[in-house]
Formats: sequence, C-alpha cells, structure tokens
Amino acid sequence: MAKETYLVTGAMGCIGAWVLRHLTDRGARVIATDLATDPVRPRLLMSEEEIAAITWHVLDVTDTRAVVDTVSAEGVTRIIHLAGLQIPFCRANPPLGAAVNVTGTVNIFEAARASGVTGLAYASSLAALGPPDVYDTWPLPDSAGPDPHTLYGVYKVANEGTARIYATDWGVGSIGLRPYVVYGVARDQGVSADCAKAILAAAAGNAFHIRFSGEIALQHASDVAEIFIGCADAQVTGARVCNLRNDVITVADFTALLNDRYPDARITCEKDTALPFPANLAGDGLADLLGTVPHTPLDDAIEKDVAMYRKLLGEGKLTLDQLSD
Ligand SMILES: NC(=O)c1ccc[n+]([C@@H]2O[C@H](COP(=O)([O-])OP(=O)(O)OC[C@H]3O[C@@H](n4cnc5c(N)ncnc54)[C@H](O)[C@@H]3O)[C@@H](O)[C@H]2O)c1
Repeated sequence: MAKETYLVTGAMGCIGAWVLRHLTDRGARVIATDLATDPVRPRLLMSEEEIAAITWHVLDVTDTRAVVDTVSAEGVTRIIHLAGLQIPFCRANPPLGAAVNVTGTVNIFEAARASGVTGLAYASSLAALGPPDVYDTWPLPDSAGPDPHTLYGVYKVANEGTARIYATDWGVGSIGLRPYVVYGVARDQGVSADCAKAILAAAAGNAFHIRFSGEIALQHASDVAEIFIGCADAQVTGARVCNLRNDVITVADFTALLNDRYPDARITCEKDTALPFPANLAGDGLADLLGTVPHTPLDDAIEKDVAMYRKLLGEGKLTLDQLSD
C-alpha cells in the first residue's frame, strides 16, 4: 500500500506540534502548514533535524485556492485540520475568527472533496456545547445538542454543520473532535492553558493562579494528537463528532495534586468560577471508532511534563514569560 501523506494545518500550534511529533515517530510523510513561520512549539518537542525533515508550507487556510492546490499538488491522503483562533482571539476580532475558523474549515472540506481525501479529522471544541445545566443525561453523550455561548463555539458548530453537508452532498467523511482542557508542553495560549501553565510553574517552583474552578475534563496534548491521527486514519463515511473525556477532575483537586507532589509548588485557583462547559462526558463514541482511546493517566502525564519542562528550562529553550500572559 502506498505511504499515506498527512496534511496538518495549524502545525505550529500546541496540538499541531504534538501531531508532528507522533507522525515523525511513525515515519509518515508530513506536509506541515501554518500561517506562522517560526517553529517555536515544534522545537519544544523535536530536534532541528526532525523539523527540517518535514515539508513545510506557509498556508493561510482562508485562501481557498492555496488550500485546494496544496492538497492536490502534495498528493495528500489524510488531513488533520487544527488551524484556528481560540476564544479570546475570536472575541477580539469576530470577522477574522469567522474567516479562519469557519471559511478556513469550508476550504479544507472543499480541498478534501476536490482531491478525494478519505481521512479527515478536524478540531471542533467542547465550546460547541452549552453549560451543564442545559443537559439532563449523564455522562453526556456525543449526541447532546450544541448550545454555544461564545462566537468561537458558534463557529465550531458551523464546522460540524459543514462536515454534515459535505458528507451528505458529496460523500466526504470526517470526524470532528471536541477537546476540552488540553494540557502539556507547548500549550501556552487561551484561558484553559492555565492547567498546563500550572504544571510549568510547579516544575519551576513558581507561584501560579489558575483563573477558573469547577469540574473539567483534562486531555494531554500528546494523547489528543494521537486521537487526531487515529481519527484521520479511521477513514469514516459520514460526519462523526466526538467528545473527548480522559481525566475528569475538579480544578481544586488538580491544584492539590500539584502542590502535594511538588513541595515547591504554590498553585492556587479561582473559587466559584467554573468554565461554562460540561465535564462528565461519555467517551464511548471515540472508543467505538478507535478501539482504545489514547490516555496517559494524569499522574504519569504530569510527571513527564515536569521532567520535560525542567529539561527545556535548563537548556534555555523555554522561559517562564507565559506565566504572566
Ligand atoms: N487547546 C485546547 O484546549 C483546545 C480545546 C478545544 C479545541 N481546540 C481546537 O484545536 C485546534 C488546535 O488547538 P491548539 O491548542 O493547537 O491551538 P493553537 O492556538 O496553539 O494553534 C493554532 C494554530 O493555528 C494557526 N493559525 C491561525 N490562523 C491561521 C490561518 N489563517 N491559517 C493557517 N494557520 C492559522 C496559528 O498560527 C497556530 O499555530 C484549534 O482549532 C482549537 O480551536 C483546542
């Protein structure tokens, strides 16, 4: 069988960098694309040689022609679509948020349709859902209706609708994934990045305050990357959308875990400021698709992250600047 060619959008982002890490480990042919040109996050996870071995394209996902042409010219057979602007950036510039998150995703589906790509996984978000009090079935199934309360969430719901119509009208199969709080090395922007930053602070013995509380579902970026790859490889027909579960924990317990394990850590969290999303999510949809859902237990993942952060800090490859963003 011919070797697959993976196109990754948003490859300079946190999840994108981890996708590159795993695809490189598998010896896959990778076309890494992003608007950004400096591989700041991939460099935290990969050597310069590994980064240089990847084919890079500066690709703006809002540019229909460029997206369609790149997928065609590179003989892409799998797409992992991660390019997007997170909640604060969509709020700051709604038209740009819509251009990148909505039009950009339409362009990816258009490219998949034009080139007959059969494996497409794209990033939706748990922000497509409403606050816990609008639901009454727990754990919450993937079929629970969307009820976004942010423009970012509205745009992600538009992505899921786009996927549905491309499947029914043109037979383009896809899996939309709804991560919640992604943490791990290279997670450095967006409010929910506070959990990753708390681990960085614990590794460095710094104080850090997490700006929210309540129950969350934590997913390690390495696992999320493997889930995206597995979903692109699943080559489904139809449009599937899956929530991600992995570790469900309160922010207070997460904070206590860090402070107990790392005596120098001084991690605190806000009180009575829960994120407006459900955490008790059923993970069975994804398990049906993948068999086993990649999941590094929280304790192990924190230990690995702390070791990586300490190494990167020691080598001068990472600073603590992000803790004050
Ligand atoms: N990190 C999370 O907790 C989380 C949770 C739910 C959903 N998601 C979604 O997963 C995806 C990846 O998340 P992440 O944490 O890696 O995000 P990130 O912010 O770290 O990376 C996003 C990347 O998209 C790129 N980008 C922005 N505009 C672009 C454009 N016009 N063309 C091409 N690239 C562009 C950025 O340069 C950046 O490298 C996003 O779509 C995000 O909405 C993330």
